[in-house]
Amino acid sequence: MDRGFRMLDRPACLRRLPSGMLATLLLCFICGVAAPCFASPVKGRQMLAATPPMGWNDWAQYQCGYTAQDILANAKGLVKTGLAAHGYNTVTIDDCWMQKDRDAQGNLQADPQRFPQGMKPVAQAIHAMGLKFGIYEDAGYETCDGLAGSGEPDGGGKDHFLQDTRLFASWGVDYLKLDGCKVYVPAGGTKADAYRKAYAAQSAALKAVNRPMVFSESAPAYFQGTPDWYDVLSWVRDYGQLWREGSDMANFHVKKPDDPRFHSVLWNYSYNLPLGRFQKPGNWNDADFIIGGADGMSLAETRTQLALWSMMSAPLILSSDVGRLSPQAVAILGNKAVLAIDQDALGKMATLVRRNQIMDVLFKKLSGGSYAIAVLNRGTSPIQLELHPADFGFAANAGCRLTAWNLWSGTDQPAASTLQANVASHDIAIWRVHAAPSCGTPTRTGAIIMVAAGRHRDMDNDTRCLAVSGSVEDCAGTSAEAWTITPSGALKSAGKCLVPANGKPSMQGCSARKDQRWKYTLLGNLVSADGECLTASGPDNQSQPLSIQTCGHNQSDQIWSLPN
Ligand code: GAL
Repeated sequence: MDRGFRMLDRPACLRRLPSGMLATLLLCFICGVAAPCFASPVKGRQMLAATPPMGWNDWAQYQCGYTAQDILANAKGLVKTGLAAHGYNTVTIDDCWMQKDRDAQGNLQADPQRFPQGMKPVAQAIHAMGLKFGIYEDAGYETCDGLAGSGEPDGGGKDHFLQDTRLFASWGVDYLKLDGCKVYVPAGGTKADAYRKAYAAQSAALKAVNRPMVFSESAPAYFQGTPDWYDVLSWVRDYGQLWREGSDMANFHVKKPDDPRFHSVLWNYSYNLPLGRFQKPGNWNDADFIIGGADGMSLAETRTQLALWSMMSAPLILSSDVGRLSPQAVAILGNKAVLAIDQDALGKMATLVRRNQIMDVLFKKLSGGSYAIAVLNRGTSPIQLELHPADFGFAANAGCRLTAWNLWSGTDQPAASTLQANVASHDIAIWRVHAAPSCGTPTRTGAIIMVAAGRHRDMDNDTRCLAVSGSVEDCAGTSAEAWTITPSGALKSAGKCLVPANGKPSMQGCSARKDQRWKYTLLGNLVSADGECLTASGPDNQSQPLSIQTCGHNQSDQIWSLPN
């Protein structure tokens, strides 16, 4: 059987629950029709990371240039600035804390230069400040900086996952980031299998030690740009609470303190945004650190990173010198109303409503019946924009009015039938919105984008959108790129529905017919009622015509991202 269909045939929730639970089966069946089916939290065990983790990590600011004093100074900084009270409460020590060699018992040893008293007193001091303590290790035989890893030795042998996890538990570790450098791949085995084995072993070790630790997995980042990426993204949720999917945020360099770093914010945002189908409360895509407020980032760019990450329900892990953050940066990073968008209980990924060369419009459903809207300006000049309720899938009637609370200024726009955005260069507007009852519940409306795993797309001009003309083109933000995913799984635009007629999709009048329904799989395929895949053929620097073809496994011209 084609592996691409496994998820449809045996979704995670069917695998986890006893048979005979008719209601659950039914629910799984329904969610399998139009959206990926997710596993329910394991009963009886408290869900870890029910909302995206928040905290601080040394890496992007210091790399290996830190000591215990720097870590503790930043922990104090979190408390002093009030950022800890706003939720940034986990202090994680990244690579370089350990030595290259283990001791005679095979235990990891903290670097005596950085941690002259060992690691435990540092953990205790962090706990004494009311914070949580996180640590870095690696699933390979060495960390990225060549120090002792937890994984199998190079050439094979016994791993140290359980032994290291016991040590971490004895120190009081609350959060483990497991990187993926130098993972040993046995001859004849695949890289993907080797990573899965290592992360599964770490997950088993965490269960065995019986101390709750949030588990951050870096595995997918080692497959970014390859078809295996999607497979790895499909299993990390079985083992941990969050995962890095891609490249690092640009680091601060002491020798080049003024190097601009906003480009890395935009890049990480662009690869994280299309992955909404993989996340849910307890399982988060991690777009990497918040470098907002640090060198190389303006205040506008700081606002932008925090708001984008919050619209994506991404983990908020600061990586800066907290003591050097300006009061303005602290105010932005601690903006309660924006943080509430990130920490919203539904944990939704924002929908990309519209994208053109310089601007993105985002929409996110929140718990309690409100919504968040954001407008990003990537360009060099200010933009002005008028938005309408129908852009977000609300009913287009005269009575539909939106009340919008501007989360930066704290001011309310009284109920109105339009929303006016004025956004400066590199800045972002963000509102919490309430809709009048006549607006109804919004349908899933926005762009349908094609994400080619094999290509590093520069989002400024290279994201591909499904257009109503029946082809895939560079996103231009026109109404021809606005789609609604109906509850039955039809793809609707300008009053018509996309139908796979004789292998060539075309726009036809919408009906309840089965052939108008598409299944959206976890791997990102849009599957017709006949079990074939929506495909955009041809070179992806031109207009690519649509066709219906046999589904391949992680075939880049068959992977789509839909409104959430
Ligand atoms: C990278 C990782 C960074 C940091 C670094 C340490 O692979 O993405 O966040 O942990 O390794 O060497």
